[in-house]
Amino acid sequence: MVAGVVAGSLGAMAPPPAASGRALPGGIEVVDHLDADRAAAVTALLSGLRAAGVPTVNDGHADALEDLRAGRDGAVACLVGADPLTAYGQLVRTPAGWEVAVVPTGAAAAADILAALAGAAAARGGGPMRWWVAGATGDSDRLAAAAGMTAERTLLQLRCPLPLPAGTAGSGPVPATRPFDPDRDVPGWLACNNRAFAGHPEQGGWDEATFARRRAASWFDPGDLLVAEEGGRIIGSCWTKLHPGPPVAGEIYVIGVDPSAQGRGLGRGLTVAGLAHLVDRGATEGLLYVDASNAAALALYASLGFVEHRRDRCYLMDVVGEDGQRATTARS
Ligand SMILES: CC(C)(COP(=O)(O)OP(=O)(O)OC[C@H]1O[C@@H](n2cnc3c(N)ncnc32)[C@H](O)[C@@H]1OP(=O)(O)O)[C@@H](O)C(=O)NCCC(=O)NCCS
Repeated sequence: MVAGVVAGSLGAMAPPPAASGRALPGGIEVVDHLDADRAAAVTALLSGLRAAGVPTVNDGHADALEDLRAGRDGAVACLVGADPLTAYGQLVRTPAGWEVAVVPTGAAAAADILAALAGAAAARGGGPMRWWVAGATGDSDRLAAAAGMTAERTLLQLRCPLPLPAGTAGSGPVPATRPFDPDRDVPGWLACNNRAFAGHPEQGGWDEATFARRRAASWFDPGDLLVAEEGGRIIGSCWTKLHPGPPVAGEIYVIGVDPSAQGRGLGRGLTVAGLAHLVDRGATEGLLYVDASNAAALALYASLGFVEHRRDRCYLMDVVGEDGQRATTARS
């Protein structure tokens, strides 16, 4: 199952050589399965970083980490430093190509991880490869450029103090909402979500399996997913997520309004309802992620008092497959 082991530094874009034994301390090991020891080392690294408030992996990569632990096909892991593990990379196949994670994002070995995982992607046919950096800076821009990647998307993390000051919410009526019902709402919620996020690279095109996986997360509570109906049909929803803190932060995790119901105050009402729900659960700060190009959502959040806290950036490169074929870049 070991895909490749590299001792020392790689030149940018050099593919890893074939498997040749155990990783050396300080070396890089590329595998497509995490045995118990490696899985424990990765868990320890990620837990330590999370405890220190350092961003680690997104939901899609967390799912892929489970696949690597379970020996399921589809993802590739890159471990740096055998004992202790000092950095971790992961390559995941997505509908739009490949996505790579580097943990921590500012790891000294980031260039080597990117090169090793680009090599792994090349060995699997190549295609567009994306790298999301939480808290992007000029350094990550330069690192990405050196690896042959260009900035594709920027995601803003916005925050606001809670509760919202009186009068902030606007004059529109707050819509009636009810908690999500897992027994009867799955098809209706998926239909609304997929219409609202049509073409969206992460949130669009969800199927029942994707939704079930998200709902299997330890933090999920159906009571935190507020739905709005019209004529018995779900026309919008606000999915909230509590971060225990301290301080307790409440996230607007996914919010979407069916295109047929947009522009008449529902999105604002759902956001306000979601934030009020989070305040009831103890949140003193609101947070959410929004694409820097989403003008409608940005205007809505700014009017409620959200301001930028952090910016995440997606870098993109086309990896040429080892068969020499260049897959078409799927821009999103
Ligand atoms: C963002 C979204 C939830 C807003 O819902 P909505 O019901 O259309 O919005 P509302 O009618 O409540 O309008 C609220 C505010 O949004 C802004 N807004 C809405 N549509 C807009 C548009 N086309 N252009 C610019 N601003 C817009 C305005 O500031 C508006 O306030 P105003 O009416 O006082 O001017 C909705 O457009 C949507 O579901 N989009 C697709 C999914 C998505 O992007 N979700 C957010 C991810 S972070």
